[in-house]
Amino acid sequence: MNSGLEDVVAAETVLSDVDGNAGRLIIRGISLDDLVAHSRYEDVLALLLDGFFPAMPSLPEALGAARVAVFKHLASVDAGLLALSPIEAIRALMARLPDGDDLATALQLVAAPAVFTPGIIRLRAGLAPIEPSATAGHAADVLAMMLGKPPTLQQTAALDRYLVTVADHGLNASTFAARVVASTQAGLASAVLAGLSALKGPLHGGAPGPVLDMLDAAGTPANAALWIDDALARDERLMGFGHRVYRVRDPRADALKGAVELLAASGAIDPARLALAEAVESAALAALRRKKPDRRLDTNVEFYTALLLESLGFPRETFTCVFAMGRTGGWVAHAREQVLGGRLIRPMSKYVGPRPQQAA
Ligand code: COA
Repeated sequence: MNSGLEDVVAAETVLSDVDGNAGRLIIRGISLDDLVAHSRYEDVLALLLDGFFPAMPSLPEALGAARVAVFKHLASVDAGLLALSPIEAIRALMARLPDGDDLATALQLVAAPAVFTPGIIRLRAGLAPIEPSATAGHAADVLAMMLGKPPTLQQTAALDRYLVTVADHGLNASTFAARVVASTQAGLASAVLAGLSALKGPLHGGAPGPVLDMLDAAGTPANAALWIDDALARDERLMGFGHRVYRVRDPRADALKGAVELLAASGAIDPARLALAEAVESAALAALRRKKPDRRLDTNVEFYTALLLESLGFPRETFTCVFAMGRTGGWVAHAREQVLGGRLIRPMSKYVGPRPQQAA
């Protein structure tokens, strides 16, 4: 038995390939490096959804219309919902969206975290949510809804790069959860909610907020090694390091580090903050190599995500919501692929409890 299902192949997919030994991610035949250099999130969404719906309209317009359509749900936010963590609030709002298997349902699910996250951020700050624009680019609209003013080109490019980078990633925990639910033919909203729930934990999508906590706790580059050693001595896991599949550096870490360096060059990230992150990263890699010489634990996607989202102005407690903005595209595509070509997913368990007494 393999309790973490590592090396178990549970689906055939045309969507993405994660090569853990080579450190390579391919989305529908295109390597991540090429994808981030030339694409907006809408382009990657169109790529992921291609062939899974009977007809595909122009995605930017259809996604813009979906953002406008879901905005009305923010009117139902009350004090109880605002008292939840942002990811729980988004989950509650998304649970109001109807199930269905058509493209309109899919696009509303993709639009939902993009509209609800800035809305929740503003409501938590005592401000009114800003309406989406049907004609803006997806990333630009998310930033405008959060910041209350048009974002800079660099900010938009950085968020686009982030959303493209996290759009899909093989059979990770949340995508598997989404495919399991989709395999019961429950509908796209149910599948996406399953994915969202699996993304919430710190071992999957919940790590980047704690990465910033780690930077704050380390404080200065000079203190980084000491803090890392103490954390490992307390048997803590270092957030932003290690991966179930990658045995080398996560290629998404480099895609995002590139975006962070561009932001730093444009003055949007304090060079001291970047220097602290680099010091913590090198101290962590050295300490993990000493602690686990037989297991390569390298930087993963979450480490530079933290700096990137911080510099764009997202509060750290909303980082997982922003991850969900990108990954809903992957969940929806995988759910459709599962429904169209897969079977009910129903593995076996091995019973290790007591047996009823044999009758005398
Ligand atoms: N910090 C410290 N030790 C780590 C570690 C980390 N980030 N990642 C793995 N390890 C250790 C484990 O404790 C384990 O040690 P043990 O054999 O003494 O128990 C060993 O390395 C093997 O790890 P394992 O638990 O088999 O890895 P996994 O494949 O189950 O876990 C992660 C993968 C991502 C969950 C894990 O690396 C982790 O917790 N990382 C931190 C959270 C994070 O960044 N999540 C985002 C992932 S994209």
